[in-house]
Amino acid sequence: MTNILLVTSSPRGAEGLSTRFSSELAEGLKARLGGTLSTRDLAVNPPPHITQAYIGGRVVGPDTRTPEQARAVGLAQQLVDEVKAADVVVLGSGMINFGPSSQLKAWFDHITWPGVTFDYSEAGGPQGLLTGKKVYLVTAAGGVFSEGDWAPFDFQTAYLRHLLGFIGLTDVEIVRVEGTAFGPEAAKAAIAAAEAQVRSVLGKVA
Ligand SMILES: Cc1cc2nc3c(=O)[nH]c(=O)nc-3n(C[C@H](O)[C@H](O)[C@H](O)COP(=O)(O)O)c2cc1C
Repeated sequence: MTNILLVTSSPRGAEGLSTRFSSELAEGLKARLGGTLSTRDLAVNPPPHITQAYIGGRVVGPDTRTPEQARAVGLAQQLVDEVKAADVVVLGSGMINFGPSSQLKAWFDHITWPGVTFDYSEAGGPQGLLTGKKVYLVTAAGGVFSEGDWAPFDFQTAYLRHLLGFIGLTDVEIVRVEGTAFGPEAAKAAIAAAEAQVRSVLGKVA
């Protein structure tokens, strides 16, 4: 049985293209692979910014945590458990000021956890612990970042790819919805291109 986790994070509600295409992809995967599909909508239910209670609570034993620390660490544990339970993660991210939304950043700040999702190996280098999972990353942006003059400023994809890999999620396939900001014709073409990418990804799945 395949457990699919869909994580969406666009603050643009029903207009969110990363939400639209990541949902379409996750549903298509479920139709092909069977199993379960769970959803974590970080825009509807955003994790808070991390706090001293969270940082301090992570490094003390569960029995000595204050109620505030227990609450903060409990949320992080829940978010980590959701990823751990998944065989496939579909992650939707819309570009906000050249990076991911702060909702998605807050999610990573909770799940990037020393000793839990990454560790230092005997060789000294960091080692991701969430291994053996497939990730489909759907990024949306008004500009074009896959090539051309703006490619060096795609901090969204670069950041997400790096952080996913840092916690062990190294098998990442990317669907890009890009270039929607240049008028209705360009937006139409960008959406058609994204639809084709989703079809192509699903076409490779048994
Ligand atoms: C507050 C805000 C900031 C944005 N910043 C950028 C940006 O830095 N670069 C860019 O190419 N597009 C930017 N956009 C456009 C979005 O990336 C684009 O609308 C994309 O589709 C958002 O993803 P979503 O559709 O999943 O919400 C921004 C949009 C908003 C609302």
